[in-house]
Amino acid sequence: MANGVVIETGRLRLTVPQSDHAAALRDYMARNREHFAPYLPPLPDGLHTLEFWHERLVAWREESASDQSLRLLLIERGGDERMVIGDCAFTNIVRGPFQACHLGYKLDRQFVGRGLMREALEGAIGHAFHTLKLHRIMANYQPTNERSGRLLRRLGFTIEGYARDYLFLNGAWRDHILTSLVNPNLR
Ligand SMILES: CC(C)(COP(=O)(O)OP(=O)(O)OC[C@H]1O[C@@H](n2cnc3c(N)ncnc32)[C@H](O)[C@@H]1OP(=O)(O)O)[C@@H](O)C(=O)NCCC(=O)NCCS
Repeated sequence: MANGVVIETGRLRLTVPQSDHAAALRDYMARNREHFAPYLPPLPDGLHTLEFWHERLVAWREESASDQSLRLLLIERGGDERMVIGDCAFTNIVRGPFQACHLGYKLDRQFVGRGLMREALEGAIGHAFHTLKLHRIMANYQPTNERSGRLLRRLGFTIEGYARDYLFLNGAWRDHILTSLVNPNLR
């Protein structure tokens, strides 16, 4: 069921990656190599090959089918529907008394500054809270990433702490500001 999720917002379609998204994902990452670099871990060999993305898509579908993650691709409605313009991912889903996950997101450089990620995340978080029944979504950002901080604040995420040397990104351990959003309607 999770692998068929499609969420529509005013300007976007959010879809679970399908096996025919390999080329679009390869192109999205290639177009945004420098834009994403400060926020990515060491990249595996073959990132720019179709084979890599076919394998990645299979792994994502298995994760999603076993309730470990929900990954969504952002497609512009009425635009080039074969083009991926962003992605967001609810990962590390833990059930039991925690009912929590981490959230990550990226937007194609040429689409930044239009409110599109906020629109996407409002839809995706609604799904995570109402359909996946998650209670806590945790999202963390580097102190220098002001756009990400503003986005999370506008979505209602609150700061819970500061973690030194939290993630190894772009060649070094990076401090992060820790935030979360809690589902007010889950008993
Ligand atoms: C983080 C990232 C997704 C933020 O993108 P973004 O476009 O700024 O996010 P939003 O959807 O919240 O857009 C908000 C901006 O659009 C503007 N905007 C324009 N039209 C708008 C509209 N119709 N509705 C809402 N906002 C609109 C807002 O004023 C705001 O700009 P401002 O922050 O300069 O005031 C993007 O910078 C990115 O992908 N960065 C690289 C990867 C990354 O950092 N990932 C996160 C790691 S923690």
